[in-house]
Amino acid sequence: MLYIAQAPNQTLVSYLKDRGWKVSAGTLATQASVLKTDTPMAGIIDMVGFSARELAALEPALRHQQAGWIALTDDTRLADPVVCHMIRHYCFDFVKGPVAHATIGYLVDHAYGMVSLGDIDLADTPTVFGDEQMVGTCEAMQQLFRTIRKVANTDANVFITGESGTGKELTAVAIHERSPRRKGPFVAINCGAIGNDLIQSELFGYERGAFTGAHQRKIGRVEEADGGTLFLDEIGDLPLDSQVHLLRFLQERKIDRLGGHDPVAVDVRIISATHIDLDAAMASGRFRTDLFHRLCVLRVDEPPLRARGKDIEILALHVLHKFKSDGRRKIRGFAPSAIEAMYSYAWTGNVREMINRVRRAIVMAENKLITADDLGLGHCTGIESTTLAAARDAAEKRAIELTLLRHRHRLSEAAAELGISRVTLYRLMVAHGLRGATVASGADVA
Ligand SMILES: Nc1ncnc2c1ncn2[C@@H]1O[C@H](COP(=O)(O)OP(=O)(O)OP(=O)(O)O)[C@@H](O)[C@H]1O
Ligand SMILES: [Mg+2]
Repeated sequence: MLYIAQAPNQTLVSYLKDRGWKVSAGTLATQASVLKTDTPMAGIIDMVGFSARELAALEPALRHQQAGWIALTDDTRLADPVVCHMIRHYCFDFVKGPVAHATIGYLVDHAYGMVSLGDIDLADTPTVFGDEQMVGTCEAMQQLFRTIRKVANTDANVFITGESGTGKELTAVAIHERSPRRKGPFVAINCGAIGNDLIQSELFGYERGAFTGAHQRKIGRVEEADGGTLFLDEIGDLPLDSQVHLLRFLQERKIDRLGGHDPVAVDVRIISATHIDLDAAMASGRFRTDLFHRLCVLRVDEPPLRARGKDIEILALHVLHKFKSDGRRKIRGFAPSAIEAMYSYAWTGNVREMINRVRRAIVMAENKLITADDLGLGHCTGIESTTLAAARDAAEKRAIELTLLRHRHRLSEAAAELGISRVTLYRLMVAHGLRGATVASGADVA
């Protein structure tokens, strides 16, 4: 343990030694060499007695990745914004004025425990599909992995839903790679990115001379996927007349090339995905219900990032490790401000947005630790002072919101997980202003 102070308290030192700590105490100058080691350590920093300039000089030491700091301070020091900033960003906790040695002992144990955890989580978690790792430890993601394994073993069509950037394409690849068709091709087609007039020739191909400019036969994407998997991304954007053709293909398992005479038999497994609300698209006649039922034999839901709890942090570390060589500096991790911000941010762009923000931060960061500002999330930090009642209220709202997301707004299931009745859940949703989302997604509000 490193104990930095103008005048280290010798009785505290003996107390800590009695508890089994190897203590190295003194001013920063005398302790600099200890900080060079890369093993985890606890740190106590006594801010009393240092001038503002001396304190600023301590910042690099506080940033040390392998040290978990506890600050000792007083009211005068806490009036200084620089001191508050240092505590907020680099320390696990702080104590004010004279406190029992036992309290300090307890806090340093925790700080040490936290740094000792290191990157263990990271090493254990990723599930690898092809070249991409799919990170997920939370229950929702474990459930997704189980679903992928089960679904991969069948040949039934799969329909994947999820907000944009949640990993729908990654999931489609994962299913293909674990399926008996893995030796066959995986052909992805983005139905939203091809113009209406081209989509049929793109999907089904054409014969030479089918139209002016068709100088030679072109094999369509469906036929290209023969023996493998066809991934129809953004299926919700498929124009109605192409929907008819796709439906016919699904019924007959044969395609007609444009300008061709004989239908060609094609053996593909279809995985489709969309981020739009297909229920609404069907209700308004923009998507054929019969096609939907053909496509959606098995359904996979991607949980939004904000409902993945601790995985938010694990994923951020994963992205950092993957891209850290992009930056000029050696980046060691995330500052507490960044972690706090990542948990409170809504992540509407999900994993894709996380990757973009972290990559940008790696390039922009001025220090070894990425801050909330580097992530462009400066506005998401700051725990507001609050009454206990308000805190309970906010926690209740958040728990309900996330449970509803996990259960796709199915009230009975969400209520069961929360351990309350459906009626109570409904009443709480109304009280927290959460009713709108449920009604909009057409869930079971009776
Ligand atoms: N669980 C995960 N672990 C690691 N990387 C992930 C995970 N989920 C998604 N990604 C990465 O996030 C990015 C977005 O994933 P993907 O393209 O599969 O999402 P999507 O749902 O298809 O998005 P969109 O709706 O925008 O098409 C990809 O770079 C992918 O590798
Ligand atoms: Mg996609």
